[in-house]
Amino acid sequence: MDKLIITGGAQLNGEVRISGAKNSALPILAATLLASEPVTVCNLPHLHDITTMLELVRRMGVELTVDEKLSVEVDPRTLRETHAPYELVKTMRASILVLGPLLAHFGEARVSLPGGCAIGSRPVDQHIRGLEAMGAEVEVTGGYIHARSNGRLKGAPVFFDMVTVTGTENVLMAATLAEGQTIIENAAREPEVVDLAECLIAMGADISGHGTDTIVVNGVEKLHGCTYSVLPDRIETGTYLAAVAATGGRIKVKNTRPDTLDAVLQKFREAGAEVETGADWITLDMKGKRAQAVNITTAPYPAFPTDMQAQFAAVNIVAEGVGKVKETVFENRFMHMQEMIRMGANVTIDGNTAVIEGVEKLQGAPVMATDLRASASLVIAALVADGETTIDRIYHIDRGYECIEEKLQLLGARIRRVPG
Ligand code: EPZ
Repeated sequence: MDKLIITGGAQLNGEVRISGAKNSALPILAATLLASEPVTVCNLPHLHDITTMLELVRRMGVELTVDEKLSVEVDPRTLRETHAPYELVKTMRASILVLGPLLAHFGEARVSLPGGCAIGSRPVDQHIRGLEAMGAEVEVTGGYIHARSNGRLKGAPVFFDMVTVTGTENVLMAATLAEGQTIIENAAREPEVVDLAECLIAMGADISGHGTDTIVVNGVEKLHGCTYSVLPDRIETGTYLAAVAATGGRIKVKNTRPDTLDAVLQKFREAGAEVETGADWITLDMKGKRAQAVNITTAPYPAFPTDMQAQFAAVNIVAEGVGKVKETVFENRFMHMQEMIRMGANVTIDGNTAVIEGVEKLQGAPVMATDLRASASLVIAALVADGETTIDRIYHIDRGYECIEEKLQLLGARIRRVPG
């Protein structure tokens, strides 16, 4: 298993170009299964999870043509199977996103149930209930979800018990080919849901209200092909801002969408950073100062994202003062705190709240990544620690950060990967 070795202490300064958003690209690749013509998806990030999604649709018989810039043309007309096997789903929970498209377009789907996960139990009951409301017959046996529909799905009101991002995406995709109107209430408002809806509209879907908590879909008989470019990654953006803020440096982030990061930029300003934005760029300047500790509560968009909680915790850990971090989306998303405590962080955990008393310095140590964003937070902690930190199980980071060593090296970080 590869490891990252980081020698801390360098102030990061410079420019970074942001990749396409993983959590937009995954549902958009699944949505191509709804079309009756080839769909070309551009600005795909070069990540393990994207390769897994491409492999998943390829195994269904779908033809893929990849160009050198990783634009992928997906031709769903060659689909032979409507099966998502356990061996792929177990490596990536987002495989569940093929359930709605397969069912709506081909009338059946057999998708392995994703298991538990390091950050929480993460059930998919809301996905299943939503599809059942649209007339699907769903049976869960032998670790698989078997879904069938007798003819087209029927548009229906769908009310989610909690805000679920991939649940909203699955039902939204299924509704585009259903007969009649679907109204999704308590829908997720995340920019990735909006991006998916915009791609579906480019394919000929009739959708309104995306970006609000009520999405209205009037089903159409067919969706056509299109070329669509994935939104820039707001979490990758926030992660580089956090890394630079923790080291007291200055960064210009390019090819991004500042309007998807309001809550996060607000927290950086509270922490003492000077933040400026343009249409597709952000600059952040800490002017060599230590950040001020800030309080954070994660919640669905437009509130502070759970996917930035770990990285901001790493900023608080070396900040001045006491910051409280409350995680309300997942029940077990503090594993990184234990590793940072091993590096000298002062953290007390009480249920879903971590009270962090900033320390002036961390010490390098061998640590272990437990999930994608936890690994990013350990990289940030290592960048400000004295001495060398070795981060094990780094495969997590390759699921969500394109060329992370190269991008950090360009900012002045001393980071290298060693094959394990
Ligand atoms: C998406 O996961 C993202 N993944 C996650 O990104 C992100 O952390 C999460 O949304 C929250 O923003 C993708 O988009 C591929 P949820 P998702 O359904 O959709 C509960 C990353 O690091 N719930 O919005 O799986 C669930 O347990 C990742 O890039 C049910 O109880 O998350 C959780 O507590 C990790 N039943 C809450 O809802 C359901 O049927 C929100 O989860 C569905 C969800």
